[in-house]
Amino acid sequence: MRALVTGPRGFVGARIMDELAGEAIPAPSLRNVCEEDIRRIVDAAQPDVIIHTAAMSDISDCANDPGGSYRANVEIPIWLAGTGIKCVMFSTDQVYSGCTGAGPYVETDVAPANLYAQHKMEMEQRTLEINPETVHLRATWMYDMPKYGVPNRSNFLMKMFRDHDVYFSSAEHRAVTYVREVAENIRKAALLPGGAYNYGSENDLTMMEVAEWFKNELALPVAIHDTFSDRHLWMDCSKIKSYGIDFCTTIDGLQRCIADYAL
Ligand SMILES: NC(=O)c1ccc[n+]([C@@H]2O[C@H](COP(=O)([O-])OP(=O)(O)OC[C@H]3O[C@@H](n4cnc5c(N)ncnc54)[C@H](OP(=O)(O)O)[C@@H]3O)[C@@H](O)[C@H]2O)c1
Repeated sequence: MRALVTGPRGFVGARIMDELAGEAIPAPSLRNVCEEDIRRIVDAAQPDVIIHTAAMSDISDCANDPGGSYRANVEIPIWLAGTGIKCVMFSTDQVYSGCTGAGPYVETDVAPANLYAQHKMEMEQRTLEINPETVHLRATWMYDMPKYGVPNRSNFLMKMFRDHDVYFSSAEHRAVTYVREVAENIRKAALLPGGAYNYGSENDLTMMEVAEWFKNELALPVAIHDTFSDRHLWMDCSKIKSYGIDFCTTIDGLQRCIADYAL
């Protein structure tokens, strides 16, 4: 599979580059590109598939720069889909941020409640209109330990290890996913039929329970405080499982990560 990977120096993209070593072509930075630039990049790479991880992915940054978010999270994906090459694009569980039902949410339950999520939703809809083969992977909050040669970003593990006080809710259901599994499943994801997929771990526990479990497992000195938020980003991943893509549960993923890094 000859894959052009956008955002190859980002948190997810760098790990996909490692997973697809020998098959992946790193795209140059897409900041400040125009549609013609995208065509040139894709023509030069001649990929079978484009794996699109580049994005403005911070919710606050998007709120503070709506134009920049629209360019990065809607227009660039539209231009990529317009090349006619099959695209696998990263979306987000934030598309469920305004859902009021109990959850877990299936792919049709969307209610994006922040600009980042609204732009990701528009990305999904418009790129599927342009190329119905486009695959959208709705990712959860992902984590990894710091690792030589690849970037890390603020994530659940880093918070638990570095902060004296962390804030999670005893009412909030959402999952966190080991990014290693996200990369490992990418070949299968490239074979999915077009559409949106919840792509990550399932989790029946609240975030407070997950944090308590992790704290106890590693005897961490962190203090966990309850925010009492009842917002859920809780995904039902049956659709992706029906295509043979099976993630660990959040607790099993954390256990695997603990073992991988001998924590
Ligand atoms: N990390 C998570 O927990 C998480 C959770 C849910 C969904 N996602 C989604 O998963 C994908 C990958 O996330 P990530 O954490 O790997 O992202 P990231 O590391 O924050 O960013 C990936 C790459 O995007 C490029 N980029 C940043 N700003 C840009 C802009 N304004 N225009 C064009 N490109 C820009 C950068 O590459 P250059 O420096 O080379 O330009 C960066 O390395 C994104 O679509 C994100 O929305 C992530």
